[in-house]
Amino acid sequence: MRIQRTVQYLLLSAGFLALPLPVASFAANPDKVEFKKEGKAVKTISVDDLRAITRERSLEVFEPHERRNRVYRALPARAIFDEVFGKDWEKAREIVFTAIDGFQPSVPVKRFLHHDGYFAFANENKGPFTLTNKLQNEEAVTLGPLYLVWDNIGSKELLETWVSDMPYQIKTIDLKMKEGFPNMLPPSGSSEDVQRGFDHFRTQCAACHTINGDGGGKAPELNYPESVVEYIKPEYLKRWILAPQTIRYNTHMPALAEEISNREKVAGEIIVYLKAMSGAKRAPSGNPGDISR
Ligand code: HEC
Repeated sequence: MRIQRTVQYLLLSAGFLALPLPVASFAANPDKVEFKKEGKAVKTISVDDLRAITRERSLEVFEPHERRNRVYRALPARAIFDEVFGKDWEKAREIVFTAIDGFQPSVPVKRFLHHDGYFAFANENKGPFTLTNKLQNEEAVTLGPLYLVWDNIGSKELLETWVSDMPYQIKTIDLKMKEGFPNMLPPSGSSEDVQRGFDHFRTQCAACHTINGDGGGKAPELNYPESVVEYIKPEYLKRWILAPQTIRYNTHMPALAEEISNREKVAGEIIVYLKAMSGAKRAPSGNPGDISR
């Protein structure tokens, strides 16, 4: 057994990279991913069956959670979408990923058309498929069943948007033909600053937080019934976004990504957006117990 593994390892290092590797089964994450279109089930597929669809490869990426390069075994995302949804997926607007831990980013379809995205399913070196999330208080996380990664080395654009376009523990992939999250949209007629703030909020915050109930379920609602601009002093709110650990010792909120240029300006615009939304409160649909009195 041991010898066999060594042989396989040697073969792999010798460049036989198309050889299927055993997927490191780790922790209790399910092995299946559900594909949906507009919320309706299309197919549920195991990682092994996805590996049969298209050719896998090893891919070196900049791993922003650990701030170093890592090599994963990965499947090209476009080939998977072609097979599961048919070519029409290219006309969709965005793809909403739901992770086991509640993280729920929405990635524009254009990003997949202009950049090379991959679904990683194992570590290249056969170690456990996990990483240490340094930015969220050193949490060790399992990455499976799928982890969306990009051929991002040297791409400034991808390095700025990684907060929303590198979800791990992906369990659902939902194709949206139209813009989702209507309750998060700024009031019509809002200024350009508010619009820019909204765009930043979409990429940097909405995967974890909700506004009026729309967005990711990993972190608290920020607008309803009381907005954070109402109960957090402005200077603390900005500092919270830029460096939350300087306010709360063991917070799980990551600072606004270091890769972003003009971090201060971006944080300011996000606050302008949050102020605009405090004048546009809508009760979330669904009924979380913690807001009833
Ligand atoms: C990876 C997930 C994640 C991202 C991305 C994220 N946050 Fe958070 N945020 C959290 C978590 C978790 C908390 C809960 C408090 C804690 O852990 O200290 C939090 C708390 C907050 C709070 C305090 C709310 C309260 O009532 O105490 C504010 C304000 C906030 N986040 C704003 C933002 C903004 C603005 C962005 C985008 C720039 C953002 N967050 C991005 C995870 C995230």
